[in-house]
Amino acid sequence: MNLTELNRIATTMVAPGKGILAADESSGTIKKRFDAIGVESTEENRRDYREMLFRAKDAMSQYISGVILYDETIWQNAKDGTPLIKLIEQAGAIPGIKVDEGTQALPMCPGELVTVGLDKLAERLKKYYERGARFAKWRAVIDIGSGIPSMTAISVNAHALARYAALCQAAQIVPIVEPEVLMDGDHDIERCYEVTQRVLNTTFQELRVQRVALEGMVLKPNMAIAGKKCAKQASVEEVAEKTIRLLKACVPAAVPGIAFLSGGQSDEEATAHLNAMHKLGSLPWGLTFSYGRALQAAPQKAWSGKAENVAAGQRAFSHRARMNGLASKGEWQSSLEQKAA
Ligand code: 13P
Repeated sequence: MNLTELNRIATTMVAPGKGILAADESSGTIKKRFDAIGVESTEENRRDYREMLFRAKDAMSQYISGVILYDETIWQNAKDGTPLIKLIEQAGAIPGIKVDEGTQALPMCPGELVTVGLDKLAERLKKYYERGARFAKWRAVIDIGSGIPSMTAISVNAHALARYAALCQAAQIVPIVEPEVLMDGDHDIERCYEVTQRVLNTTFQELRVQRVALEGMVLKPNMAIAGKKCAKQASVEEVAEKTIRLLKACVPAAVPGIAFLSGGQSDEEATAHLNAMHKLGSLPWGLTFSYGRALQAAPQKAWSGKAENVAAGQRAFSHRARMNGLASKGEWQSSLEQKAA
């Protein structure tokens, strides 16, 4: 393992002004997104859609440091035969790959899930590296509800995340460690804070036990935020202040960077929250976005599966990428959104 090189890549992924495009929706998830815009989820439509994003020059070269791909995409070619992964490299961004294989019910823990995909992971990582992937992603899912999460769910998911991360580093791939505490419930921000704290502490404990080099990874956490169904929503300032307090308490300074998931926040909320965090003063790690929905909802709508809408889709993507790029430096203002609209 070359830790200097892993650290260089991790640092590049979270460089100020840039962030990560999470375009790694599984076949099931992309079908849901396509259903919403009335597009059939065929292999060709998925290719055309992702080709549109990766060919958005402005966004890709100025605001996107890396792209997380799904297995199908990493092997696909653009319409003209160029491998999609080459389009990403040509734009100056780093290709990455989602390597978990989704979730399964966790035995003895009703309603809870464990992420799977460790079997044969070492072999798969080798192939992805040869294809050009320089980082990977594994997402653990922790739900908040009555009596959950259990310590069992937190600890098995943390164990799997650390197993994955160690295998990645041994294969010279930077692991994005993503323990996502969902914002689907009716819990308040305090409960999210308390659960996320337990999840992050357990995850870093496992990472240490399994000898993962913190200098060669990126953390992808949720923010401290109230559940979507909670009557009492926190202000942008409260989300920013609590999230930074939580991360400072749980994430060692040796970690080069933190890149948030958007998790169901609206496009503008996800941008405003990141921006507000950077207004709070200097931080021990790089802090940016690794958004899926909050970067892609607008371009998906603008494109709607029509070739004549490709330019509009790319404009919508470039706008969100630029807004989030500015937020990653604390330079975003809501007036910039209105101007574009
Ligand atoms: P969202 O930003 O849509 O939450 O997706 C990010 C991601 O990669 C989830 O694993």
